[in-house]
Amino acid sequence: MHLLTTADALAVWRGTATGVLGLVPTMGNLHAGHMALVERALAQCDRVVVSIFVNPLQFAPGEDLDSYPRTFDADRAALEAAGVHAVFAPSVEQMYPHGGASATTVHVSGVTDMLCGTRRPGHFQGVATIVTKLFNLVRPDCAFFGEKDFQQLMVIRRMVEDLCMGVEIVGVPTVREDDGLARSSRNQYLGADERRRAPMLAAALEHCRERLEAGARDFHALEADGWARLVEAGFEPDYFEIRGPELQAPQTDMRQFRVLSAAFIGRARLLDNVAVSVP
Ligand code: PAJ
Repeated sequence: MHLLTTADALAVWRGTATGVLGLVPTMGNLHAGHMALVERALAQCDRVVVSIFVNPLQFAPGEDLDSYPRTFDADRAALEAAGVHAVFAPSVEQMYPHGGASATTVHVSGVTDMLCGTRRPGHFQGVATIVTKLFNLVRPDCAFFGEKDFQQLMVIRRMVEDLCMGVEIVGVPTVREDDGLARSSRNQYLGADERRRAPMLAAALEHCRERLEAGARDFHALEADGWARLVEAGFEPDYFEIRGPELQAPQTDMRQFRVLSAAFIGRARLLDNVAVSVP
């Protein structure tokens, strides 16, 4: 496995990589969720590069940029064992040489005007900008993103379409713990009592899914019920919303929905969503 830390080294490796090239962008601290993307990429591509970069541009002041868990040695070992061909792990100076700033950014409108987009202003602009830079450096044929961050997946799909980037975007289902909690690097912020309550987020989403599948269509009442379940479980909800399958406003005659929620428990902000398909 090649360990690449500069754009120049990446370009040299890129020149030798033949066949279909897959990219898995990550911020490291790899867990089973990330590894599901890696497995999918390895199954679908001839060569796979995983990027590890904690992107300052997508963290607002006061968010967890400094405390974000960094476990590079373990990440590298896991990727090597999985059979990944190259890891791209640049420094902040490599990616943002002008004093950490970027004069040019990518803003995807519409799909960012809701949910995490309005709660974390600038976040998706930071994500779209770094993913564009990674695509320009790696020039992958396909790139793999988790449904765990469903709005992020929608933002990337729209960006690739609007800017004719020519990268196939593959969405991979959310990997969960046995009790339903979606795997996340931020689960480490949970204390024992919070960890015990944390699966109630997935449970509230599941309950809403079941109600929708059973024919309930009073979206406001369902959202209020989900919110109340989270409060009951000790969360401070950020949002609990029913949307259409591509995050459009939900309509009562739709057969597919996406229910999404973000909620604080202690210092952790947990994020999850479920797909709903009406039989
Ligand atoms: P990060 O949070 O490290 O996640 C990297 C990728 O792993 C994302 O596509 C995310 O959706 C996916 N992922 C995380 N947990 C998952 C789970 N439980 N099941 C399935 N997939 C999961 O998302 C980012 O990094 C960054 O925003 C990035 C795209 C790398 C840009 O900086």
